[in-house]
Amino acid sequence: MYANFIRKNALAGIAIAAILVLSVFPSGTSVAKDKTLYERLGGYDAVSAVVDDFAGKLFIDPVVGARFFGMSADSREGFRQKNKNLVCKVTGGPCKIISRSTATTHGGLGIKASEFKIVAQHLVDTLNKFKVPEKEHKELMAIIATLRPDIVEVEDK
Ligand code: HEM
Repeated sequence: MYANFIRKNALAGIAIAAILVLSVFPSGTSVAKDKTLYERLGGYDAVSAVVDDFAGKLFIDPVVGARFFGMSADSREGFRQKNKNLVCKVTGGPCKIISRSTATTHGGLGIKASEFKIVAQHLVDTLNKFKVPEKEHKELMAIIATLRPDIVEVEDK
């Protein structure tokens, strides 16, 4: 009799818990939906690998490579690290941006729209190489596009 009482109350408890869970996470909602872009990209290691690949393409590009000509290995490492921190932060990660504002660091360089296009295409190629899913790919490129007004000074097309 006492065991029956406990069993009944335990079942009632489970039912109430299930109702509470369903009301907090109605059908169609998942915890994964709340993950940041940073997490969905794969966290710091993935961001780091993407930036390394992307920067490598920039440095040897026949057009924009000239912009990075003469940088020491240490400066290139600093450039990569600043970009890692930037991408990490703007995608919702825990990093601190260690560069000055994008407008300050690019202002006066006379960067052309066609150069921005080349740089953005390198990032697209890297994301494709790393098989970043379309959703995350688009989200990251949309964030990068918001930086364009701070970077491009010459509309050459
Ligand atoms: C696509 C978006 C871009 C992002 C997210 C980006 C990001 C950055 C970052 C974080 C830095 C380091 C700033 C610092 O030293 O504090 C930087 C520097 C620089 N960026 Fe960009 N950039 C972008 C586009 C471009 C474009 C289109 C060009 C020209 C082709 C360019 C040329 C440079 C140059 C020349 C430097 C300075 C390198 C140095 O001497 O240290 N960037 N960029």
